[in-house]
Amino acid sequence: MRRIAVINQKGGVGKTTTTANLGAALAQGGQRVLLIDLDPQAHLSLHFGVELQDADASIYDVLASATPIREVSRQVRENVTLIAADVDLAGAEAELVSVTGREVLLREALEAVDADHDILLIDCPPSLGVLTINALVAVDEIIIPLQAHFLALQGLSRLLNTVTLVRQRINPQLVVSGIVLCMHESTTRLAGEVVDDLTGFLKTARGADTPWSDARLFSTYIRRNIKLAESASFGQTVFDYAPKSNGAADYARLALEVKGDLPDGRADADGHTTTSESPPGRSPENVEVDSGDNEKHSMRETYAPPARAKVVAVESPPASSPDISAPTVVGSVESSG
Ligand SMILES: Nc1ncnc2c1ncn2[C@@H]1O[C@H](COP(=O)(O)OP(=O)(O)O)[C@@H](O)[C@H]1O
Ligand SMILES: [Mg+2]
Repeated sequence: MRRIAVINQKGGVGKTTTTANLGAALAQGGQRVLLIDLDPQAHLSLHFGVELQDADASIYDVLASATPIREVSRQVRENVTLIAADVDLAGAEAELVSVTGREVLLREALEAVDADHDILLIDCPPSLGVLTINALVAVDEIIIPLQAHFLALQGLSRLLNTVTLVRQRINPQLVVSGIVLCMHESTTRLAGEVVDDLTGFLKTARGADTPWSDARLFSTYIRRNIKLAESASFGQTVFDYAPKSNGAADYARLALEVKGDLPDGRADADGHTTTSESPPGRSPENVEVDSGDNEKHSMRETYAPPARAKVVAVESPPASSPDISAPTVVGSVESSG
């Protein structure tokens, strides 16, 4: 089973939307997909119409009382198995602090189902606490959804430092496989600048001994598309709700890219895959036509002065970084909603 965590400690960047719809797209392509909701907000579960009752077992029981993972799995679509969360999970951060080996609980639980699925996607909470550390220890790869505005890049350095620590101390396999731009508006100048900075940052990392030295900026940009938000509120994936939407097209393409199956794909000097045609998320003629999306305007107003968003400030963690077992690191929660 290929194992991927979808992670960014910022809220509202597209983690859950990406986990649900990338998972659904991979399943449509014939992969047996396992999805884990590791966020106490349980948005991934709701995305598949799953709302747990008090008596129902969840991922919390797997972590807190070693309930076998098969007992909490449910098939939610053809080829899609979900391990759901509920608000109980919020207590796990505090409860697990005194548990020895708390970082490896999820990895150990997953061993039992490793052969049952082709690919695992974990929807991480908006924090770098013990739940996220469990995800980072259990996977081989991470995908970082990012919204291309200035503030979205601020947390990247901290996230990469945490990934570096986990790789150094517990999970030497861990790599960042890619960054995916979500809610993307390629026509804005700031988005272009963020793309340039990210591309430059990743290029600088090539050949270095960091978890992100082979990371790429996925050539599929997930455009802002109201159908993605609507489908979630109906407990559906975008493929159930609006299979002809830009949102469905973008996630279908991202699935091909994640699988390494992009038709006509070729890698350019930066390791990007490009196609002979303009990819859907980039073509100017394919501009968003959905109505009812007022965020577009407010976003432009809020971030109007295009301050250069520097990602080159990302550094390796200091030699004296605290042990990742220390509650000062695993217990910290940074959420922007
Ligand atoms: N490409 C998109 N276009 C429009 N709305 C989106 C898009 N991606 C996500 N959203 C919406 O933005 C909000 C935050 O996305 P979500 O995936 O829940 O982020 P996170 O899991 O990182 O907090 C949700 O309401 C979601 O439906
Ligand atoms: Mg989420």
